[in-house]
Amino acid sequence: MKKSLMAATVIATGTLLGAAGTANAAELNLICSADVVICELLVETFEANHDIDVSMVRLSSGEAYAKLRAEARNPKTDIWWGGTGDPHLQAATDGLTMEYKSPMLAELHPWAVKQAESSGYKTVGVYSGALGWGYNTDILKKKGAKAPKCWADLLDPALKGEIQVANPNSSGTAYTALATLVQLMGEDEAFAYLKKLNDNVAQYTKSGSAPVKAAARGETGVGIVFMHDAVSQAVEGFPVAVVAPCEGTGYEIGSMSIVNRARNADEAKVWYDWVLKPETQSLLKDAKSFQLPSNKNAAVPKEAPNLDEVKLIDYDFATYGSTERRRALLERWDREIGAIAN
Ligand code: F6P
Repeated sequence: MKKSLMAATVIATGTLLGAAGTANAAELNLICSADVVICELLVETFEANHDIDVSMVRLSSGEAYAKLRAEARNPKTDIWWGGTGDPHLQAATDGLTMEYKSPMLAELHPWAVKQAESSGYKTVGVYSGALGWGYNTDILKKKGAKAPKCWADLLDPALKGEIQVANPNSSGTAYTALATLVQLMGEDEAFAYLKKLNDNVAQYTKSGSAPVKAAARGETGVGIVFMHDAVSQAVEGFPVAVVAPCEGTGYEIGSMSIVNRARNADEAKVWYDWVLKPETQSLLKDAKSFQLPSNKNAAVPKEAPNLDEVKLIDYDFATYGSTERRRALLERWDREIGAIAN
């Protein structure tokens, strides 16, 4: 139900909606940067258990960061859940988010706590997942293209026009890909690689997971995405194979931050503590979201890629989440790749 419609219904029906929907319910304005299915399931479950009405907007990670920046003087958003960690770290450095030490921190994996510590407790890890891609086995077979196992294989001319990846300005997934390639190859080599890759890229999408959704539906051959987003399509029965690149790959620490001077900071803290609980994080698998949850006691979906089997780089979150580095890389991407994109 649209939030405005919900508000109208609440006023018209008074207490009919019960504890979670009274006319005087407190409010919470949420940006959700993960898949819309988990965003909606979280909101629905939260509202059913709290006397707080949530107004949620789904935005990709880079867009969410830009919204917080635009609202800095007069914040409309209270809390930002999900999305890759780099722009959350940048928001922390820029003073857009506030320090909060949740009592739930003690239950989290060290990687999630480290994210909190390195930001002065202005953000925290909520899930993690590795970068890779998914490819449509039928399309690649028809094209006579060999299965791409390594970053180098994505430059195969047989894949011309068959690759989609998001734009790193809007998408945290694509920024993770950019930062990963820079860490694997060095910056100049990475941009030389991206220029060659551009010959095979048909489209730079806004959202990070869109490329593999397109691959699943036969609209493109390969989608460079987080592996868990490729798994979601395979689990739905689409002919999608999931790849962890042979040279090594980066990963995300999906994060959460409370907005500095949020109007509903108390409600934001209620959400924050609730969403870090094991039973809440276990909802990820119900929404067919296969990231690794940050609470040690949350259920790990059996379909979630096993990161112990993926060659992970030692992703430098502090550097690539810094304002200076992220801005410089995005500017160079605009100049050298965005400018020649189809
Ligand atoms: O779809 C889920 C997901 O891949 C998350 O794991 C990740 O944090 C988010 O989407 C990134 O989305 P985007 O690339 O659109 O910012």
